[in-house]
Amino acid sequence: MRKKIIAGNWKMNYSVNRAEDFVNDIKDRINTDEVEVVLCPNFVSLERVSDLIEDTNIKLGAQNVYFEDKGAYTGETSVDMLAAVNVKYCIVGHSERRMYFNETDEIVNKKVLKLLQKDISPIICVGETLEQRDSSKHFDVVENQVKNALKDVDSIFLKNKIVIAYEPIWAIGTGVTATDEQANEMCKFIREVVSKLYTKNVADMVTILYGGSVKPSNAKSILEQSDIDGALVGGASLTNDFVAIVNY
Ligand code: 13P
Repeated sequence: MRKKIIAGNWKMNYSVNRAEDFVNDIKDRINTDEVEVVLCPNFVSLERVSDLIEDTNIKLGAQNVYFEDKGAYTGETSVDMLAAVNVKYCIVGHSERRMYFNETDEIVNKKVLKLLQKDISPIICVGETLEQRDSSKHFDVVENQVKNALKDVDSIFLKNKIVIAYEPIWAIGTGVTATDEQANEMCKFIREVVSKLYTKNVADMVTILYGGSVKPSNAKSILEQSDIDGALVGGASLTNDFVAIVNY
């Protein structure tokens, strides 16, 4: 049985003091072992949030990382730096990073491999634009993103470390959620892609999330779908709505 993951991607919101207040406000109500709860604050708040959740089951996630170990890469953050503040998950290939910061499949793959070396779980984001869906290219687009992100990744990591998040771009921040059927159909398809790349046994164990306008009113039905193992929540992770989603 795959354990559900509910991750909050705060994106570029909340400075450190606000982050502290928010975590103090919600942490007792999201401290559960029934689902794996992950908070992904901005880099400057990671350490503070890490301290605040130290005695809870809540896990810390980062929103990005660089694939080199150290050196002259102004503005970048290494996996060791993340590991030092107890980061356990890291989002890679979010559509906003692909769109605004030219993050390619090749870069995503390098980040995935580097994170795995340091025992941090990559949350690999994939998903199509509305135009791609309307022209029936969505399965091809997502298949390519998954294949490229997983290049040279050993099967053992699929079973216990890799998380894939299907986030259709047209559903992110728009209030338009994919229907349960659309979301589950693609998550099932991703599992088939993993099955072809590895084995059915591996595919049965990989964790696949849905993200895109998840809110308290739709969380339960999304999370009950056969192939959806959790949610990557944006806007609703910044408010009390996150508590309701975790306790769906
Ligand atoms: P929203 O939940 O705001 O649509 O954002 C989803 C997302 O991008 C999570 O990574």
